[in-house]
Amino acid sequence: MKILIVGSGGREHAIATSVAKSPKAEKIFCAPGNAGIAQIAECVPIGAMEFDRLAEFAQKESIDLVIVGMDDPLVGGLVDVLEAKGIRTFGPRANAAILEGSKAFSKDLMKKYQIPTAAYENFTDADEALRYLETAKFPIVLKADGLALGKGVLICQDLEEAKAGVKEIMLDKKFGTAGNQMVIEEFMTGREVSVLSFTDGNTIQIMSSAQDHKRAKDGDQGLNTGGMGTFSPSPFYTKEVDAFCKEKIFQATVDAMKAEGRPFKGVIFFGLMLTEDGPKVLEYNARFGDPEAQVVLPRMKNDIIDVMEACIDGTLDQLQLTFEDNAAVCVVLASDGYPVSYEKGFVISGLDRFAGKDDYFAFHAGTKQTDEGIVTNGGRVIGITAKGADLKEARKKAYEATEWISFANKYMRHDIGKAIDEA
Ligand code: AMP
Ligand code: GLY
Repeated sequence: MKILIVGSGGREHAIATSVAKSPKAEKIFCAPGNAGIAQIAECVPIGAMEFDRLAEFAQKESIDLVIVGMDDPLVGGLVDVLEAKGIRTFGPRANAAILEGSKAFSKDLMKKYQIPTAAYENFTDADEALRYLETAKFPIVLKADGLALGKGVLICQDLEEAKAGVKEIMLDKKFGTAGNQMVIEEFMTGREVSVLSFTDGNTIQIMSSAQDHKRAKDGDQGLNTGGMGTFSPSPFYTKEVDAFCKEKIFQATVDAMKAEGRPFKGVIFFGLMLTEDGPKVLEYNARFGDPEAQVVLPRMKNDIIDVMEACIDGTLDQLQLTFEDNAAVCVVLASDGYPVSYEKGFVISGLDRFAGKDDYFAFHAGTKQTDEGIVTNGGRVIGITAKGADLKEARKKAYEATEWISFANKYMRHDIGKAIDEA
């Protein structure tokens, strides 16, 4: 098969690595890709939002399967555009990707179908939001409705902060049109777990659990980022939690989307908070998490193409997802200053140390091939993943491997997976 992957991050490198393992994959393309993906796929200089050019390329190359990794093109309707041209595509259509694209939609869905989540109100008017806050309990959480690179969530400790937040989101439009609408919701406490799943619109099968570290600095300090590191499985995702989520959250979400006339085919990412009152949904994403994919996919035993085709064909009930009985840890090497401002263009050395090793991976995110070699080209540069017999071993190996790589302004957290010690 000829396969085209759309995206350019560590997630797409992890997807491409899984696809490359499949005996079905004859040729892999990635648009636009990065320097790491270019080692296993042919990168084509087409942006993820250039829908017509992507469709044209897929037709010209007789692509058998397009895999859309990123949220923006999914929410924007890339799958619809490709399907309309008869191109087989893995990922939700726009009317289903709204599960991630509109937080107000997803909250209303959860309320209507009694899926556990934080209490909330939606607002399209800043004055109404401000009035509501006058009598609210603090801390409180403000969320821009639309996509905001994971940055549209503000946790406000008091009324003053919350008022400033409403202004930022709805009036100053810090997150653009994503702030035309806003969710204000109850602040929850507990441990966070990410559960990725495959669904064909009827059947849902979950992957091994993971935990992300969203804040930039050690001890969960600093600004929210796309994710600074992950581990899988999460020891806090117990059998009891799993049973509850399977009954009240996972299938309920798939059924709700179907009942709304928005069948979801693709990956649903459940961001869960394990509260004292049981697991609740923090957010949905309509795609693999990044860096979650970097610890979950290397542990999946199935042929990823089989699974994706089953999602498209509605035959997911006929296969069983299986994962290796081990663990993985990913530490993100970033450019110092991320997520605010950082320099690019520094040569990266040490990548050859990963060649030929089955249990170590260097998943490229912001990298670029130049005449001088591979250089840094983004905030998150490379995800270093290692597999081990258990989480502690995987963490030790991942941190060892972070030392193999050097580049100017290299920055990472040193406490990825620290929670493992508390389990
Ligand atoms: P989201 O993009 O909705 O996952 O939010 C980003 C991060 O903000 C989450 O991973 C949580 O750490 C935090 N967060 C979001 N909603 C809440 C909430 N209701 N209570 C506490 N923390 C939250
Ligand atoms: N790591 C969180 C996300 O992909 O949204």
